[in-house]
Amino acid sequence: MAVTLIVGAQWGDEGKAKVIDYLSENIDIVVRYQGGANAGHTVVVNGEKYIFHLIPSGILYPNTICVLGGGMVIDPEAFFLELSNLKEKNIDIEGRIRIADNAHILLPYHSLIDRLREESESITKIGTTKRGIGVCYADKVNRTGIRIGDLVEENFYKNRLPRIIQEKNILLKEIYKDKEIKVSQVEDLLRELGQKLKQYLINAPYYLNMEITSGKRVLLEGAQGTMLDVDFGTYPYVTSSNPTIGGALIGSGINYRFITESIGIMKAYATRVGEGPFPTEAFGEDSEKLQKMGNEFGSTTGRPRRCGWFDVEVIKHAARINGLTGLVLTKLDVLDEFDKIKIAVGYELDGKRISYFPSCAVERIKVIYEEMPGWKESITHCKKFSDLPKNTRKYIEAVEKFCGVPVKWVSVGPDRENTIKLK
Ligand code: IMP
Repeated sequence: MAVTLIVGAQWGDEGKAKVIDYLSENIDIVVRYQGGANAGHTVVVNGEKYIFHLIPSGILYPNTICVLGGGMVIDPEAFFLELSNLKEKNIDIEGRIRIADNAHILLPYHSLIDRLREESESITKIGTTKRGIGVCYADKVNRTGIRIGDLVEENFYKNRLPRIIQEKNILLKEIYKDKEIKVSQVEDLLRELGQKLKQYLINAPYYLNMEITSGKRVLLEGAQGTMLDVDFGTYPYVTSSNPTIGGALIGSGINYRFITESIGIMKAYATRVGEGPFPTEAFGEDSEKLQKMGNEFGSTTGRPRRCGWFDVEVIKHAARINGLTGLVLTKLDVLDEFDKIKIAVGYELDGKRISYFPSCAVERIKVIYEEMPGWKESITHCKKFSDLPKNTRKYIEAVEKFCGVPVKWVSVGPDRENTIKLK
């Protein structure tokens, strides 16, 4: 196994960090390939909780190298805060962090504009994390972005920075009626950051492909999920990057031939944060129970997550796009107390059954449900498939049958220990 991709199969928060942490034991390098501090990856080891926003979850193993890939948008303030939190918890990070020099840097004006946009009456509210993610990616595509490698280039300060800030000031003053930014202030900040960050910089395509060729095992860590992908998700209620496999290639520079496994992470039910369509959203008692049992509150913003049922078409969509070779079913224990568990087995659009997740007509689909009996007992202590109650096993088999992808692991509790390998 050379390179394994870990990708969210729903709307993010599927428990990817726990899986990445679990799999990292046998991995040399973990590469986060897109997104920024909008992600909140939670790992629990021996009862101690760690939340990562930028640094790959593999950092908890003493010898794993962690790479922040070129597809990321990196907020330096959040990065340094995370480093100091890790040091406080006595995690030795010395020599284990690398940053791709083509990753973009996210500055306070990105978060400011994100917030102003979200609060504006005349712009569609997406329910973003207000971390500046979309604004920073827009700059990248607009060719007015700043890459981490630029921070140590004299020409950048002379030729590009003044124009970038000038354009931002037109936007801030004319559109948002806000204060102007001073070029000299941004320059001072960037020069200082350049000095602090230069020790981490790498040419990621060169470094990663060379390491893989020499036999190193690599894990590609996705943030958010397939349904939040700017191209394949519920647009415009998406994030501004590609959490799917295409984003993994672009955001790391790894040769596609090296990817041998693509693992989709899905909750045993479904959640989403923010605005936008969610076909299997539950309401009332079911939703409250899922939210309470699953502790469904965002780890970045603290917002309550909307909760609903396992949706076959969503997972098949993720399987198709990402070429999934396996699934990990997380938070299965959250369903412990349900008498009946609903599964959305298909959709109807304009009275006809469809077998795909529609790009533009999501609001018009009618969801077809089946019900399965619950197991009504705690499963957190289970160590192997045969320890699980009969109805839990049937539920796992139903996921496999409906999605056409083998379930390789299930997670039955928050700790690293509460993971069962099936295949
Ligand atoms: P943004 O990524 O902050 O621009 O937010 C765009 C949408 O993606 C919003 O609905 C967010 O709630 C959602 N989102 C962004 N990051 C995450 C995540 O890590 N988990 C779940 N939802 C996310």
